Amino acid sequence: MKKFASFIGFLSCMAVAVLAQQEKIKITHGPYLHNVGENSATIVWTTNQPAVSWVEIAPNDGSHFYAKEREKFFDSPLGKKQITKLHRITVDSLSPATEYNFRVFSREVLKRGDNNQTFYGNVASTAVYKVEPLKFKTLDTSKKEVKFSVVNDIHADFKRLESLLKHSPKDSDFLVLNGDMVSQMESEDQIMKGFVDTLVDFTKSSMPLFYARGNHESRGNFSEEFINYFPTPTGKPYYTFRHGKVFFIVLDGGEDKPDSDIEYFGTANFDKYRSDQAKWLQSVVNSQEYKSAPVRIVITHIPPAWGSWHGSVDFKKKFATILNGADVDVILSGHLHKHEFYPASSSGFEAPNVVNSNTDIMNVSVNSEEIKIDFIGADGKPSHPSKIFKLNSGKQ
Ligand SMILES: [Fe+2]
Repeated sequence: MKKFASFIGFLSCMAVAVLAQQEKIKITHGPYLHNVGENSATIVWTTNQPAVSWVEIAPNDGSHFYAKEREKFFDSPLGKKQITKLHRITVDSLSPATEYNFRVFSREVLKRGDNNQTFYGNVASTAVYKVEPLKFKTLDTSKKEVKFSVVNDIHADFKRLESLLKHSPKDSDFLVLNGDMVSQMESEDQIMKGFVDTLVDFTKSSMPLFYARGNHESRGNFSEEFINYFPTPTGKPYYTFRHGKVFFIVLDGGEDKPDSDIEYFGTANFDKYRSDQAKWLQSVVNSQEYKSAPVRIVITHIPPAWGSWHGSVDFKKKFATILNGADVDVILSGHLHKHEFYPASSSGFEAPNVVNSNTDIMNVSVNSEEIKIDFIGADGKPSHPSKIFKLNSGKQ
């Protein structure tokens, strides 16, 4: 009887396996835009089956997507096209301040045989016939006014995220995720349902996302995958980008407790991580690109001006001397789950530190005269008085 039961179990498993194999390839999440710069962008999506994927790009010049054959971009870091369910394709050689239409394709790989044989199935793709193709615009250092929104500490409450995103201005250039979008990273499915699917709906796959990792994204059995899903120009969660007059530095303070804390189960090595990042930051502020930028904004999840836990103390020790004297205009943070403001030079940092709560969206605009930050709640009303930072006349 026991043998019969296990035979039936075996047959059920086989049936499930066959059905899974037969499931038609489809795009399961995304696409979404990451790592967008003046000359390149990375488009990320997932499929339910392993596939070879590509992106086709067309300048948004009024011609139909299929007016001619469009350039194809693949993910082939070692010269061979990746066969995977996570697709990250960087399109490069783009022009600054230019809008592009794009379409993503995934061709299912059914089987890999001997001698490099590859057997293909169907193709899944985004649509271009009955709907407008997806599009994005590369960054633009000459743009007169920069507008962006910031959300943080969502902790997978995608309904709250959805209600906050409704109050991002229609003409925002990009969206910043300032950490703790989930409480820990456990699986692809969990991060997608927790916040990424909501972002894809909101952005219509057409608005760049810039992610500052929070301490909670450093936790969980899937946390090592962070950079694979949210790629950056440096390959690390700390990086820079320039848009309009603003030079943005995105920092990653890492975990908040000492590396030896029992909560990290012997896996944390953030003191070294912060030391390496500080060396990189020093080279950034020494660069001509940084020095010549009229406005400098730092984005980092844990407020540098706050805190006496080890992560904050170590951050201050390693980063304050670099950022002070580097003429930073404002530091944007989250983490505290409440609105807070540390004026310039009040807590060991020369720059003012604005902290967004977990129940507001920050809408930031920068023109040649000022940085203005509005704090809007889920009801669409201002939650706190706007913060305005006047820029030096020499910065225009
Ligand atoms: Fe946090």
